[in-house]
Amino acid sequence: MTDQKVQSLIARMTVDEKIGQLVQKNSGSFSDSCVQAGGLGSVLNEIDVETQNRIQKIAMKESRLGIPVLFARDVIHGFRTIFPIPLAQAATWDPSLVEDGARVAATEAASSGIRWTFSPMVDVCRDPRWGRVSEGFGEDPLLASEMGAAMVRGYQGNDLRNKTAVAACVKHFAAYGWAEGGRDYNSANIPENDLYDVIFPPFQRCATEGALSFMPSFNDINGIPATGNEFLLKHVLRNEWNYQGILLSDWVSITQLVTHGYAEDGKDAALKAFNATVDMDMASPFYETYLKELLNEGKISIKEIDQAVARVLKVKFELGLFDNPYTNPSDFPKLLNEKNLETAKKTAVESAVLLKNENHTLPLNQKIKSIAIIGPLADAPHDQMGTWVMDGKKQNSITPLTSIQEKAKELGIKVSYERALTLSRSKEINNKDAVINAARNADVVLLFLGEESILSGESHCRADIDLPGAQEELAKLVAAQNKTVVAIIMAGRPLTFEKIIGECSSILFAWHQGTMAGPALADLLFGVESPSGKLPMTFPQHVGQIPIYYSHRNTGKPATNQSWEKMDDIQAEAPQLSIGNTSHYLDYGFEPMYPFGYGLSYTNFEYQNLKIENDLVSASDTLNVSVELRNTGSVDASEVAQLYIRDLVASRVQPMKVLKGFQKVFLKKGETKTLFFRIPVREFGFHNPEMKFVVEPGKFNLWIGGDSNATLMTTFDVK
Ligand code: NOJ
Repeated sequence: MTDQKVQSLIARMTVDEKIGQLVQKNSGSFSDSCVQAGGLGSVLNEIDVETQNRIQKIAMKESRLGIPVLFARDVIHGFRTIFPIPLAQAATWDPSLVEDGARVAATEAASSGIRWTFSPMVDVCRDPRWGRVSEGFGEDPLLASEMGAAMVRGYQGNDLRNKTAVAACVKHFAAYGWAEGGRDYNSANIPENDLYDVIFPPFQRCATEGALSFMPSFNDINGIPATGNEFLLKHVLRNEWNYQGILLSDWVSITQLVTHGYAEDGKDAALKAFNATVDMDMASPFYETYLKELLNEGKISIKEIDQAVARVLKVKFELGLFDNPYTNPSDFPKLLNEKNLETAKKTAVESAVLLKNENHTLPLNQKIKSIAIIGPLADAPHDQMGTWVMDGKKQNSITPLTSIQEKAKELGIKVSYERALTLSRSKEINNKDAVINAARNADVVLLFLGEESILSGESHCRADIDLPGAQEELAKLVAAQNKTVVAIIMAGRPLTFEKIIGECSSILFAWHQGTMAGPALADLLFGVESPSGKLPMTFPQHVGQIPIYYSHRNTGKPATNQSWEKMDDIQAEAPQLSIGNTSHYLDYGFEPMYPFGYGLSYTNFEYQNLKIENDLVSASDTLNVSVELRNTGSVDASEVAQLYIRDLVASRVQPMKVLKGFQKVFLKKGETKTLFFRIPVREFGFHNPEMKFVVEPGKFNLWIGGDSNATLMTTFDVK
């Protein structure tokens, strides 16, 4: 039905009107007459509803064919109610929560007339130096697939015609997170098999989930910029996956084909992007300037233009824009309503990862009578929102300082506060004496460290991912006064903070958690909630270890603790030998600071009785696995059970461990649950040296546990 409508509309369109549908412009950068002439398919960044409705009225009433404009915006982790950054959302390991969050974001955005968001970003990334690591779901393809698919469901809802449905845009296709050295926009050099086995799965999963659009990445992949990359866009996305949604360029990424040195000029750039099946040009002038000329010269065909236009119109029909083109904010629930804030808080609670908890320092116990809150992020309402916030307002953020003060008041606990550093990167500690006094005179210090939001995000990469400024010095100063220091680290990426671990009794890694960071952290610190977040990325000890990730291959000389030749132990003029050497650094060994999937709780969990029902399976079977999980501690809490496999011998060496399933489960203290995993054996396959996807016969190890160092293991065979 929609296809028929699309085709009959296309049959009535002039070439100029068709090309107009392939143009997206920024708010304020076009004239009414352009809309009148049907010269505009989509507008980004116009969020004033009155202006939108005015533009829409011109499109509907004054343009020849009355085709509505599609309004778009980067709604990355919330619209007005800001949720934790996507990387933090991945740390919840709870797709249903992520789906709920995206639903809230979509409903709020739609009340401002936005029906298209440029999210989710599912770029698998193994380099925390990259600023945009905050926008994605971390290092693992399965976790990113589940989270990406959940966001797509959340944005688009059950019924695209519902006025709260917002089209998702899956980005950045592909390997944007593989940029050399973690420098944004940089080259990604990656073998084809890794593209297929590591980078593509989350994209493919989102396509299958029905995501209405895709965006290519800015960078070049093996020398070919994504926006003009026929292998990626045409061969993989369109042909192999039969993807029929809109492919929208990134911001002037068509222009950048010239800058890269891949296209001669604007016209050549338009040709190359169009040939790669990019349907819509975001913000560069080249589709509107050159597509007609290219058509007249026979370099592109009207059939190809019609296909691109059809993909754009189809989404507009599916979203019901032809029937309901205008927005009336009063048809929508209020922004920042209680339910939205509650969902944001729950996500924040579940995203925090407890990394250390010596002597059960957390939760704060009843004996505590005084707390010193110290640090630059305890009361930083802007920074706690994180990167890529366009419509969130800092006056809506509730900071940890506010929430802890409130809670402490209820409990009769005295609180003092010293910011100590103006910004996370400040090099000098302010009011040193006051800081010392506050730390000395409190039963516990809550030390809020981390990064400001501007230190992560697009093009905000860091070569050094230690705590910036004088924060290490601050931690040492505070720890010298008080032996109970709880560090709460708020950041947009994994950081290296090895030097302060010893100074702190507990460390809670809290990311940038958005509007409700304060209430969420207060509940965690005071034990109303138990932490249940798990790391979506490996945390290195030192930046020089990057890339370091759990799913690496074995070398021929794998490192062990025995073989690690520590720098300090090497004798003067020791002979250089080859025998007995293994793969490690002299100074930092071979292990990360914290492994992928890691995170503590206020309780303890025990895994036992790992069983595989059918331990001889064929590629078309489903593997049925069960394990008993017991909460052996004294508080109710949630745990993320993670299932990993290893294909022991293969025609291409397979990773030491690969995540193949996970479940987040809630257990009351003392409770035992049997968890079942049903995994299609097909998911254990990979691309062999001939680039065929195969599940090879042979032995596999399988582990289940609370992180990627899980040791409870069994085996199965594929026949
Ligand atoms: C550039 C970014 O790479 C992309 O992710 C974003 O959606 C666009 N700008 C639009 O703002």
